[in-house]
Amino acid sequence: MKAGLDDVIAADTVLSHVDGEAGRLIVSGFDLEALVERFGFEDATGLLWRAFHDGTDLRAELGAARVEAHRLFSSMSAPWTQMKAIEAMRCLMSGIADGVPEREPVLMLAASGTAAAHACRLVSGQTVVAPDPRRAHADDVLRMLRGREGDAAEVRAFETYLVTVMDHGFNASTFAARVVASTAAGLPSSVLAGLCALKGPLHGGAPGPVLDMLDEIGDVSRAEEWISRALQRGERLMGFGHRVYRVRDPRANVLKSVVQKLRGRENRIAFAEQVEAAALRALKGFKSQRRLDTNVEFYTALLLEALDIPRAAFTPVFAAGRAVGWIAHVREQEASGRLIRPQSRYVGPMPGEAA
Ligand code: ACO
Repeated sequence: MKAGLDDVIAADTVLSHVDGEAGRLIVSGFDLEALVERFGFEDATGLLWRAFHDGTDLRAELGAARVEAHRLFSSMSAPWTQMKAIEAMRCLMSGIADGVPEREPVLMLAASGTAAAHACRLVSGQTVVAPDPRRAHADDVLRMLRGREGDAAEVRAFETYLVTVMDHGFNASTFAARVVASTAAGLPSSVLAGLCALKGPLHGGAPGPVLDMLDEIGDVSRAEEWISRALQRGERLMGFGHRVYRVRDPRANVLKSVVQKLRGRENRIAFAEQVEAAALRALKGFKSQRRLDTNVEFYTALLLEALDIPRAAFTPVFAAGRAVGWIAHVREQEASGRLIRPQSRYVGPMPGEAA
């Protein structure tokens, strides 16, 4: 038995493959680096969805579905300002009823981008921004989130982020989505399960704390001491370590090169690089038995910060990208028709024994 199911293969998939030793991510037959170079959001989505969507008109379909989701979300009320953005997103997404199976993937994906944007504005007491169905999905989600248009470089950077995080093997949120899908609960419930799993700081909740760490360190001269103290207290450094990668997460390099292209970030990146180097040195010393390297969240944090996206929005935005993969995995799981139902080993008292 492996408590965290490490190395356990639980399904065949045509969607993506993580090679943790080589630091390689293959998505729908493309290395990640080629995927982000060649495909925008809609086209990359089409690749992952090719088993159930022919990819044509996805941009227009997503635009119309964002409008539909916005209409639905506008009728919902909740004590938004008392919630975290990810909780508000969860609440909005839970309002989507089971529908016509053919329409559900597009609606759920459009809804996840719209809900991410709306949730972030609602929790800070801002009015939501209505979608513009003529825009490409990444462009419009960024606009709805910030309340202003992005320039071409910002939109391209945001789109590259969404494509980079679309799918990643059997990560915890994808697995959660597939477990729910295997009970035939339907796509909205399965996607919601993925969202709930992503929320945790060991999975999709890490990038905000990465920036908190950089803020607390403040100056590179304090990096080594701050990091050593954190490790001595038994804390984990956010943005480092991975269950599968034993080398650097390839997504970290892709996102780093994107943020490097944005103007005015040179000092911030230089500081982050020095903190990263100090963290890697410290992890080598403190955790010599485990190969720990930079994961996707470190440069996610720097990229989303450079795009002026509030920290509270980081996990919702991640979910808006990963929803593509959840939906593809849910449909793949449903096609297999097999209920996921492992067993546990009972280690409690037997009847008659003292509890
Ligand atoms: N900082 C310090 N120590 C760490 C870190 C870290 N970031 N990650 C793992 N370790 C240590 C553990 O404490 C453990 O040490 P021990 O043997 O002395 O107890 C050892 O390395 C092995 O750790 P595991 O728990 O087996 O590693 P696991 O595979 O479960 O962890 C995880 C993966 C959860 C991502 C972990 O590395 C972590 O908590 N990282 C920080 C949070 C983070 O960045 N999450 C985002 C991951 S990427 C994503 O999900 C999109």
